[in-house]
Amino acid sequence: MNFKEAISSHIFTLISKASSELGLETYVIGGFVRDYLLDRHTSKDIDIVTIGDGIALAEEVSRLLPHQPKVQVFKTYGTAMLRTKELEIEFVGARKESYSEGSRNPKVSTGTLEDDQKRRDFTINALALSLNTENYGALLDPFDGISDLKKGILKTPLDPNKTYSDDPLRMMRAIRFATQLGFTIESNSLNAIAENHERLQIITKERIIDELHKIIASDKPSTGFKLLENTKLLPQILPELIALKGVDEVEGQTHKDNFYHTLEVVDNICLTTDDLWLRWAALLHDIGKAPTKKYDKKVGWTFHAHEFVGSKMVYRLFKRLKMPLNNKMKFVQKMVLLSSRPIVLASDVTDSAVRRLIFDAGDDIDSLMLLCEADITTKNAKKFKRYHKNFELVREKIKEVEERDRIRNFQPPISGELIMETFNLKPCREIGMIKEAIKEAILEGKIANDYDESYQFMLTKGKELGFILN
Ligand code: CTP
Repeated sequence: MNFKEAISSHIFTLISKASSELGLETYVIGGFVRDYLLDRHTSKDIDIVTIGDGIALAEEVSRLLPHQPKVQVFKTYGTAMLRTKELEIEFVGARKESYSEGSRNPKVSTGTLEDDQKRRDFTINALALSLNTENYGALLDPFDGISDLKKGILKTPLDPNKTYSDDPLRMMRAIRFATQLGFTIESNSLNAIAENHERLQIITKERIIDELHKIIASDKPSTGFKLLENTKLLPQILPELIALKGVDEVEGQTHKDNFYHTLEVVDNICLTTDDLWLRWAALLHDIGKAPTKKYDKKVGWTFHAHEFVGSKMVYRLFKRLKMPLNNKMKFVQKMVLLSSRPIVLASDVTDSAVRRLIFDAGDDIDSLMLLCEADITTKNAKKFKRYHKNFELVREKIKEVEERDRIRNFQPPISGELIMETFNLKPCREIGMIKEAIKEAILEGKIANDYDESYQFMLTKGKELGFILN
């Protein structure tokens, strides 16, 4: 097979030229080839393997490029990288690898193209296209990756036990590719992942999370989470989700399986948003249900304050997984905390409750509504329709109230300074009390969200507290 058109662009002909000038044999390999053949044009990274010195090749390519980009050399790995406007190109000399137990960093020695293909994770990632003049564009595929690509199968070139044990990150990659591409992990491979699941411990949290993000960013993350669960990887990453698994029964009363419910919610929200953090919020929205689950003889199963408990758990979870403890985390916490509020509203939509919701959610109100709609997983068609209809009403009410009262980016209409000036006060607790009372009165609809009504209200409140006008 010849894939000349795949590598007809300027950059490949230039790499080919540099390679023949140095008397090397060079190939494009890995993700670029895979994605080209799958017609997925997402790859901005190109991996180049050469039989010889990858660093020297990178330097020669840079020399031939008009802007002569800087070559970044990673001596320890014997690799080099350069960036053009759109691409990141990595160069490596073909190598053999041997691994030791406690590390995913192999001992490396020089090797042939086939040695290099053997050391790769999946047959579909071991496909190489020649950049050599004599067979430019030829596909080199010793493990029949092309037929795995056609059949949608993830298979390792070597014994899967070895491939996964050598570099356990590949277990995550297998599941990520299966989720992203809708591929099936070949059964020996799947068993090997389950067998080697404990090896995940040698992988840094950051790398695990990178893969998890990619699973969550895919069209149907539940595929990945079910695989992570079946292979025993999930308890090592997110035990909070595993704790949601199962259905208990007391006095004939059951509750839903909150693990599978959560996965449905995540799949649902992927239909309406690409926002990675809102997807994370969907994944974590019920984690507080495991620690708060109780059976009450009168009301059945309860998960009292699970939203509050869940939002507290988010911080510990992010910290443990070395995820950023920044605004993204705060957003996830906020979504988890507020996740039941619109549901409560759906049965009793009062203006003041809507104002409070808009006040608490602020600019994230639309994300919150998406989360709540995704949370509808009932299989009862009538209920499904009714719940969605209720949320439509909530949305309309939000729009109406927001247009009238502008609560979304609430700014206190009366400042602390003005209160001090009006009553000739020094800083004291009562100023905060008056400000809070004004806010409450606005949210309750007793006064409008404007200066004049708030000013009058402040005068009344001040008098009640015994303050005298300046
Ligand atoms: N590779 C591997 N084992 C790993 C990581 C990478 O064998 N743990 C090999 C695979 O051949 C892979 C290539 O290195 O195709 C490039 O890796 P990388 O850029 O991380 O992934 P891609 O396969 O390009 O896919 P993606 O960009 O979606 O991560």
